[in-house]
This record gives sequence, C-alpha cells and structure tokens, in this order.
Amino acid sequence: MRVIDELDLSGKRVFARVDFNVPLAGGEITDDTRIRAALPTIRWALAHGARLVLASHLGRPKGSPEPKYSLRPVAEALGGLLGRPVPLAPDCVGAAVEAQVEALRPGDVLLLENLRFHPQEEKNEEGFSRSLGRLTDVYVNDAFGTAHRAHSSTAGITRFVAEKAAGFLLRKECEYLGKVVLDPPRPLVAILGGAKVSDKIGVIDHLLGKVDALLIGGAMAYTFLVARGLSVGDSLVERDRVDAARRAMEEATRRGAALLLPVDHRASASLEGDGPVEVVGPGVPDGLKGVDIGPETERLFATEVAKAKMIFWNGPMGIFEKPAFARGTMSMVDALVASGATTIVGGGDSVAAVMQSGKQDRISHISTGGGASLEFIEGRTLPGLAALEDS
Ligand code: 3PG
Repeated sequence: MRVIDELDLSGKRVFARVDFNVPLAGGEITDDTRIRAALPTIRWALAHGARLVLASHLGRPKGSPEPKYSLRPVAEALGGLLGRPVPLAPDCVGAAVEAQVEALRPGDVLLLENLRFHPQEEKNEEGFSRSLGRLTDVYVNDAFGTAHRAHSSTAGITRFVAEKAAGFLLRKECEYLGKVVLDPPRPLVAILGGAKVSDKIGVIDHLLGKVDALLIGGAMAYTFLVARGLSVGDSLVERDRVDAARRAMEEATRRGAALLLPVDHRASASLEGDGPVEVVGPGVPDGLKGVDIGPETERLFATEVAKAKMIFWNGPMGIFEKPAFARGTMSMVDALVASGATTIVGGGDSVAAVMQSGKQDRISHISTGGGASLEFIEGRTLPGLAALEDS
C-alpha cells in the first residue's frame, strides 16, 4: 500500500476520501475529532500543490439529498480549522462538479456534497465509481472509519484512477491496530466491554489466539457469568450466546490466555441511574441488574493492565453515560493511562468514555473507526484497504 507522501501531487487533481461522518445535534457538530484526524493529509496535499477534492458521507440518508445530512456544517468547521474558506460543491458527481474541480488551482480545496445522496454509492455501482473517478488523477483514502464498507468512494473508484495511496490517518490506524494483531509487544492485554456478546464474538475468537489476557466487562460479561454457572439476577443476558461464551472460555484455557471476568459488580434495580447502587458479587441477586464492574474487579483488571506492554480496549465496563454507573469505565481509563504501555482504544463508546474523562491526550492511539476497528481486529479484510493494494 502506497502512502500519500510517496506521490507527486503537484498540479494534480487529488480526490481524498475522508470520513467526515461526525455527530450532529441541531445542525451543530458535537465532536470534530474525525475532521481533525484528517488534517495531516489535507495539509500535506495542499502544501504539495494538489488541487484537492474532499469527499465523505454523513449519516445514513436514504439515497437522495436530505438537507439535514448536508456536509455544509463540515465545510464550515474545516474552514475554521484550516483558516480559509472551504467551498462546498452542490453535488459529488456530474458536469457542474467536474467543471468546479477543473477550475481548482494548486493549493485549492473543494468539499463535495454527501456521497450518500446517491444510492449508487453504497451499491458500489460501476457507473457511479467511474463518475467519481472522472474527478481525479490521484485517489487517496484517509477514511479509516469507512474502510469496512465496499462502496464506490472506498473501493470501486480505484479501478478508474491512475494512482492511489493511503492518507496519513489510514496509515496510522493500520500501524497501531496492525500491531495488536500481528506483532504485539507482550504482554498484550485486551479489554472488551459493551452490551452484547453477539457484536464481539468474532473479535473475542480472533483475539484469543493473540492475547496474554482478555478482560471482559460491560453487560456482555453477564452472558459469560451465566456460562460459568453464576446467577446474574435481572442483568442483561443473551441466552442464545451462552454456548458461544462457554466455548470462548474453553478456547482461552486451551490457548493459555487468561480470560478474566468481573468478580463483583455495581448493581441497581433500575437502569436510570437515580436509585441506590449496591456492590454485589460474585453473582448478582434477583431484583438487581449489573450496571458496572465493582471495586474488586477494578483492582483485578488494573493489576492485569499494569503488567501489559500493549493494551487494546473496546467497549465500556458499565452504563458510563450515567454518572452513577461510570466508575468502572473511568477506572479503566486511569489504568490505561498509568500503565506506561502502548494503549489503543477503538470503538465509539469507549472512545466517548475516554473523551469524557478528558485524558485522551494520554492514550497512544484513539481509533476513528468503530465498526472498522472491530473488523480489523477480527482479522477481516477491509474493502477500503484491499482496494488500495496494488493489483
Ligand atoms: C462510522 O461512523 O462507523 C462510519 O462513518 C461508517 O458509517 P456507516 O456505518 O453508516 O457506514
């Protein structure tokens, strides 16, 4: 895979697929991390004389223009970060857009309107891929967050461009996440949390062949505890995944990896976060729901994390959005920060927890990909990466 700094961009039309799929509330961007993460590639291209065309999706419009999914707020935010206006094209393909791109001078930038205003984008339709290809001499993919999608702008377009390369963000994501699965410094500790075993079982299976220790928290731990024969009260359990959890524990034993589950819990009768919270364990009594890992588990997990040279974390330890249930998740942030290890956080909710803690600068790498980082760690081929490989 080539990287943008290996190409001569001067005077060329450069189409950079970025992931500007940012959260919006009332038309305002609530987290611009993904825009900032693309800045090194954007600045490099502009400084090296590219006529830069940026393309992204935003949200999940139903294949036609919807004003609430316009990239206009992104154009404004990016303009603020670059200290210059970023014009927004009225569309992402067609004669008018081609003329607008043709008129760009070296060092100019243009943001295309939402790719998903055309249903062909998500279908990776050949004609649409060709239309995107008509806009450019060089294709750069810096959209790690969308690398698990085989869409026209992430995959199909590469058949219609002369040169292609990864952007700096894509390279950085692959370097960090690649290290976890290919050549980690040891001990490698993975922490998985979140609600569902079903979302993570592929990752668990793949990681069991790699990690020295796997720590499981969040609601999905209760499915594992049921598989271990413990009572979990009214906690969330995926009954149809109990066997998968049991198999994962057997596999961990077979491979000599430690699989650690919570030994105590913070539990409450309600999920609202306004009622009393009790520390219980090792199981959860009837009438209560596990909402967070308990203090003994915090210590157990922190001890394991302190031994690690590399840590991968995906998924919160409890319902951290409620302050009363956030302690376990925040204790994991602290354990990562204190570890001195290379720390990698992937996935929407755990990233949100790190941001909430304000300690994001003390984490080695925070992935901009939710689904993409999980599929990467699962060992799946990401279409956006595969399309960048030379044939
Ligand atoms: C994401 O936010 O995970 C990416 O931008 C991909 O978005 P999608 O799940 O709508 O394809």
